[in-house]
Amino acid sequence: MELTNEIQRRRTFAIISHPDAGKTTLTEKLLLFGGAIHVAGAVKSNKIKKTATSDWMEIEKQRGISVATSVMGFDYEAYKINILDTPGHQDFAEDTYRTLTAVDSVIIVVDIAKGVEMQTRKLMDVCRMRKTPVMIFVNKMDRDGKDPFDLLDELEQELQIHVRPLSWPIEMGNKFKGVYNIYEEKLDLYTPSKQTVSKSIQFKDVNSPDLENHIGSDLAEKLRADLDLIQGVYSEFDVTAYLKGDLAPVFFGSALNNFGVKELLDCFVRIAPSPRPVKTEEREITPESDPFSGFIFKIHANMDPNHRSCIAFLKICSGKFERNTNYKHIRFDKMMKFSQATAFMAQKKETVDEAYAGDIIGLPDTGNFKIGDTLTSGEILHFKGLPSFSPETFKYIENADPLKSKQLNKGIDQLTDEGVAQLFTNQFNGRKIVGTVGQLQFEVIQYRLLHEYGAQCKWESVHLYKACWIESNSQEALDNFKKRKHQYMALDKQGRDVFLADSNYVLQMAQQDFPEIRFHFSSEF
Ligand code: G4P
Repeated sequence: MELTNEIQRRRTFAIISHPDAGKTTLTEKLLLFGGAIHVAGAVKSNKIKKTATSDWMEIEKQRGISVATSVMGFDYEAYKINILDTPGHQDFAEDTYRTLTAVDSVIIVVDIAKGVEMQTRKLMDVCRMRKTPVMIFVNKMDRDGKDPFDLLDELEQELQIHVRPLSWPIEMGNKFKGVYNIYEEKLDLYTPSKQTVSKSIQFKDVNSPDLENHIGSDLAEKLRADLDLIQGVYSEFDVTAYLKGDLAPVFFGSALNNFGVKELLDCFVRIAPSPRPVKTEEREITPESDPFSGFIFKIHANMDPNHRSCIAFLKICSGKFERNTNYKHIRFDKMMKFSQATAFMAQKKETVDEAYAGDIIGLPDTGNFKIGDTLTSGEILHFKGLPSFSPETFKYIENADPLKSKQLNKGIDQLTDEGVAQLFTNQFNGRKIVGTVGQLQFEVIQYRLLHEYGAQCKWESVHLYKACWIESNSQEALDNFKKRKHQYMALDKQGRDVFLADSNYVLQMAQQDFPEIRFHFSSEF
């Protein structure tokens, strides 16, 4: 019973947004409510400053902070909350994609003035693919922005999800008065303040003349009309549709002014899912009734060149993890025990004695783990759903020091296991191609190869548009395609066939000319 309670009170989620929408600010306010921190400003932004792109050491230093803030666990009311942080810089988007495989739900932050931005759209694609329940927080209501109804339409269109407002703003910018909380039937009046929570009045009947006393007659009339329109246009909020990933509740507020955040959190803990059943290749795992199992979704390397120590982040999918207990490392077929696993409470790391499904623990790693590795109590399981996405930029990697080719190969192998980049081997000329989501990773790889492995590499440009994983029901069609496109065929690290399209046009032509072939932009389909 204790186990079931522990698991069901867990809420493990990520906050995602386009940089600058207010993710860090919102995280900080949530931590304030959990008592995990006591003053605003205590959370260091792991945001990477845009100007720093040329100086990646600086970026890594800033990113180092993110180990501490990678997972922020705290108790709120009867719930245990685990917020998984995601890097804001788009060059680390692959990290974010993987983090999304370890969460049970997501909160998306959107700036009222900017609406849906590129990064949000991409991340939402991943949520949609995984059917992750999402909640939307429209931030910066203290600034002027888009008309809220227009924004709702934009959210539906751009994020391809149904939306349902659960709070509604009364004006915005300088005139911002607050929100009507539809979910709790309350009127929340706004006072700009970074530390205090706003005033909230229970207000079941918006037709009561008392509304005029609080916001004046013009705004009262407008609010009633808006709420009528919402009632007419949007169906009642349906939690099941939210849990299926088909419907996103929307809240409005101002993270900076701590307005609307508590309301978001209160609704979130009530409706967001506790750890859900997880599919493995063998069977579905149930968090409460299966013994311990989990998978590695992220590896954070220490930048200290003197010892190659990493932290492997494990999401517990079922049961309970206990310190100094033997667990099976499936890929090695070997039992391992951990005395130094860390839990993440507030902003401190502490050695963990036990942890439950939904929790993330950090395992000290000296090269034992790669992304996707599974640990169990003994059963042979392989978790599904850790896809690789097509990189955005590609380069040939060449050895710059012929005496160190062994070191180079080992380095490339380990760094790609860690998820820093993807490796493809061109079947035509045997050359190795490294693919990343951003330019920055090439510098990271070059530096780390030199400092951690003593290997030197050179990059040679190769113009590619996308890497597509291909499949077909017909082996003959597949063989024919591979023969015709042999110059552009590669294998990924797992030995899967990948077509390297050098332009959108080439890809479209291939799709047209080879209708029996299916082209995928992620390795899982
Ligand atoms: P991010 O993690 O999504 O990248 O965004 P972050 O929270 O760092 O917020 C980006 C900027 O937006 C910050 O300003 C932050 O203070 C501001 N901001 C966040 N929420 C609100 C809000 O509700 N209203 C208003 N007006 N601004 C908000 P900055 O000037 O870039 O940084 P800072 O010097 O304030 O830290």
